Amino acid sequence: MKIGNVEIKGYASLAPMAGVADMPFRILCKNFGAAYTVGEMVSAKGVSMNDKKSQELMRIDKREHPTAIQIFGNEPETMAQAARYALSFEPDIIDINMGCPAPKIIKNRSGSYLMKDPPLAGKIIKAVSESVSIPVTVKFRTGWDASSINCVEFAKIAEANGAAAITIHGRTKEQMYAPPVNIEMITQVKKAVKIPVIGNGDIFTPEEAKQMYEITGCDLVMVGRGSLGRPWLFSQINEFFEGGTYSPDPSPEERMKIMLSHAESICELKGMNLGMCEIRKHALWYTKGLRGSAKLRNEFSTVKTFDELKELSERVITMT
Ligand SMILES: Cc1cc2nc3c(=O)[nH]c(=O)nc-3n(C[C@H](O)[C@H](O)[C@H](O)COP(=O)(O)O)c2cc1C
Repeated sequence: MKIGNVEIKGYASLAPMAGVADMPFRILCKNFGAAYTVGEMVSAKGVSMNDKKSQELMRIDKREHPTAIQIFGNEPETMAQAARYALSFEPDIIDINMGCPAPKIIKNRSGSYLMKDPPLAGKIIKAVSESVSIPVTVKFRTGWDASSINCVEFAKIAEANGAAAITIHGRTKEQMYAPPVNIEMITQVKKAVKIPVIGNGDIFTPEEAKQMYEITGCDLVMVGRGSLGRPWLFSQINEFFEGGTYSPDPSPEERMKIMLSHAESICELKGMNLGMCEIRKHALWYTKGLRGSAKLRNEFSTVKTFDELKELSERVITMT
């Protein structure tokens, strides 16, 4: 499929996830066959105030393409400026976050708050689309709550204001991450617009990815939590779509190897202290379900050095 002129090869994309989908994780998922990745959301206001952390979040490695920088905010001109600034990092696509339900984002009338104000959302999409020459996409939910489901209307507004594709997470803001995903609304959105539609929500297996395609007719699927501690899910999805079967999850030894190499890349990018802080949550995901690992949860969640992590991973292997 194509988003604007950007070719997306493969079957599943990596969802933007603040605190998770940083450059090392995106590269890892790409190496496992993710067709496309979207970075952690970046505050347009932060960018306009020259905030170094916001700027840092926009960094892209050349191995990542095709990839998008995601921005959030509620002022059309500030968003357009942030999109223009983002171009210096050479993304393939700019994605606009209109789906985040986090209280601090909603308080600033950004993220999924914009689903309550479709005219303003339209102005933002238009301003951003007109300010850059690369494709602009929008990610949103089914609506604010069960009594205000407006994703079909919202999708049409996005299309009319220049969006090259949309991603729909099949839940309302009120639902946060609680099941079930509203597949029917994703199907209706797909029928309502001509631009590509990316279906998102609750894909944890290759079979679930296939179902999302088959039921909704979407052009691409997006995987978030299913990839946590399981970046190989992308290669399993690709195998399943191409051959009808897929390899089992990697052995505990292989998983620990992947985790250590992931830890190395995070430490390389962010330094040992921050890197080890960040790998803790990944370590808990990588070891989830492995026999005996429950006993090591406390140690994984406080691990301080790479050598300690290595030693813990060896203990996991001997316990399984
Ligand atoms: C830890 C975490 C961080 C997230 N951060 C973002 C974000 O920065 N931008 C965004 O549009 N969605 C964000 N999301 C939502 C995901 O992109 C995705 O829409 C949601 O998790 C549903 O997909 P899933 O069921 O495959 O996880 C986040 C989700 C999680 C779990």
